[in-house]
Amino acid sequence: MSRLRQALGAQLRRLSARRAPALPRAGFPALAQPTPRLAQLSDAELGRLNDLLPWQCFTVDAAGRRFGDRAWAGKREEPQPLPDRRIGLLHSLIGLSGRRVLEIGCFEGVHTIALCERAGQVIAVDARVENVVKTLVRCHFYVRRCDVESADDLATLGEVDVVHHVGVLYHLVDPVAHLRQLAALTRVGMMLDTHVARPSEAQAEYDSGGRRYAYRKLKESGVSDAFSGMYDHAKWLTVDALVGLLRELGFASVTVHEQRDERNGLRILLFAQRSTSPNESSG
Ligand SMILES: C[S@@+](CC[C@H](N)C(=O)[O-])C[C@H]1O[C@@H](n2cnc3c(N)ncnc32)[C@H](O)[C@@H]1O
Repeated sequence: MSRLRQALGAQLRRLSARRAPALPRAGFPALAQPTPRLAQLSDAELGRLNDLLPWQCFTVDAAGRRFGDRAWAGKREEPQPLPDRRIGLLHSLIGLSGRRVLEIGCFEGVHTIALCERAGQVIAVDARVENVVKTLVRCHFYVRRCDVESADDLATLGEVDVVHHVGVLYHLVDPVAHLRQLAALTRVGMMLDTHVARPSEAQAEYDSGGRRYAYRKLKESGVSDAFSGMYDHAKWLTVDALVGLLRELGFASVTVHEQRDERNGLRILLFAQRSTSPNESSG
């Protein structure tokens, strides 16, 4: 009997959904926080994403465009709030910062996004494979994007103990300023793997924080090439400049662990630690 009732209910919902006009694709109250990954999608692309998966609720982006869909006419017709007010309560009453959080029944990832922004680690589970997929997709589009060259973006990450920094430094427009900003957030130490210039190769110079830094200038292909930085050239600093800068920034131990003469040029693997003993630093 209950199966018959369920089947009838589903049939009625399908019929009413067919009669009801589709939800508008845009024009909802815009989300207060920026949504850069969604902003990269054209209206047509976002429409395609909305049609691609069987969404049963929707959120909006910073332009008020719909991401997802209602379940059916009359069910989840309004945008889901981001964050849900209960996550604010959970955060203030029990605390999420740095915590490992289990979210049971993540549905389409609406709460998962807000939990990820507050907790140390979120394990979101759902029994329905389509919900796991929808959660991954939604989280991808709302996840924080961080440009490490923006001091404001970097500051939003808060302090960290250890930094893993491989193959990025020389792509940055001002690698020295970046290391200064990053050092202020680094409690214990960092591993830095980067291209470097031999003194004779460092023919170009730039100014950072009122000081001149010599570098080797290498042409890059810009944003369209995933292995390039965001600009037209890379800056390879010298080993001495890097080691001196890291010492100046309060890393008592700076060790060049290896130097490699690679196909693209000279590269080093360096470890910088606040204290000379790992045990002392991790306290
Ligand atoms: C009504 S929805 C609630 C979703 C979300 N927590 C919310 O508040 O919007 C229930 C969710 O729990 C999931 N679920 C139901 N039974 C489950 C089970 N045994 N194990 C894991 N997830 C389950 C469903 O697939 C669905 O995504």
